[in-house]
Amino acid sequence: MTLYGIGLGPGDPDLVTVRGQRVLQSVDTVYTPGRLSRSVAVEHVDESALGDLDFPMTRNEDELRRAWRAAAEEVAPVARDGDAAFVTLGDPNVYSTFGHLRRTLDAFHPGVDVETVPGVSAMTAFATALGVEIDAGSGLALREAAGGASPTGPDRMVLFKVTDAPATHDGLVDAGYEVTYGRRLFMEQGETVVTDDPTAIEDRDYYTLAYARRPDAGTDPATAVFTESEAGGDGEAAEVADG
Ligand SMILES: C[S@@+](CC[C@H](N)C(=O)[O-])C[C@H]1O[C@@H](n2cnc3c(N)ncnc32)[C@H](O)[C@@H]1O
Repeated sequence: MTLYGIGLGPGDPDLVTVRGQRVLQSVDTVYTPGRLSRSVAVEHVDESALGDLDFPMTRNEDELRRAWRAAAEEVAPVARDGDAAFVTLGDPNVYSTFGHLRRTLDAFHPGVDVETVPGVSAMTAFATALGVEIDAGSGLALREAAGGASPTGPDRMVLFKVTDAPATHDGLVDAGYEVTYGRRLFMEQGETVVTDDPTAIEDRDYYTLAYARRPDAGTDPATAVFTESEAGGDGEAAEVADG
């Protein structure tokens, strides 16, 4: 039958999609890679439906390959005899552990069908949480900024894995960016923080991202005039809106 990779969204249980919830509730076993994804999953399925997988905290590639082969050994028979799900926070195809499981199953258990159910990624949820609009015609790049890294280049970037905000901030400001940080956005666990001040989030928390923008990036959208001081329903604003 099928293994579903299901995106749970950024963390609030009611940001799981309707399809994600339906599939979660239809499978025999739900595997969770971590505590946070588990806490979201149990809002939708009974704890007895959760399966156990062990993931070592290591960057050693041999150890990781062994762990994913073991995980695939565990999941494959369940997904062959019935349906199973592997959940991730956000979207399963954005910087996610699900890719390891899918590749390992493809290689060693090709009889298992794999399907993905997209989730609300922090890559898009950040815009609402930070009050940012990515207007038509703009570009937006996704980068990693672990360990104080400050990637630069594009006019607008979302940076994941901001584990040392003050160091990342220094590099971004030197390169001319304005930066806003978001921590634990749309998450029930822990405190949600949105700030321009990197010292307010200097303690390490993996669930931290940044939005960096060059102040002169792009042009204002047509309707921006409505929020400028001379706007207010007069003929000039109406003319611009009609254009
Ligand atoms: C391994 S990536 C997983 C991304 C996830 N698959 C997604 O689509 O959102 C983890 C990084 O995503 C960002 N992230 C994920 N969820 C977040 C949230 N609720 N609030 C802030 N950052 C989040 C953080 O930068 C974190 O280090």
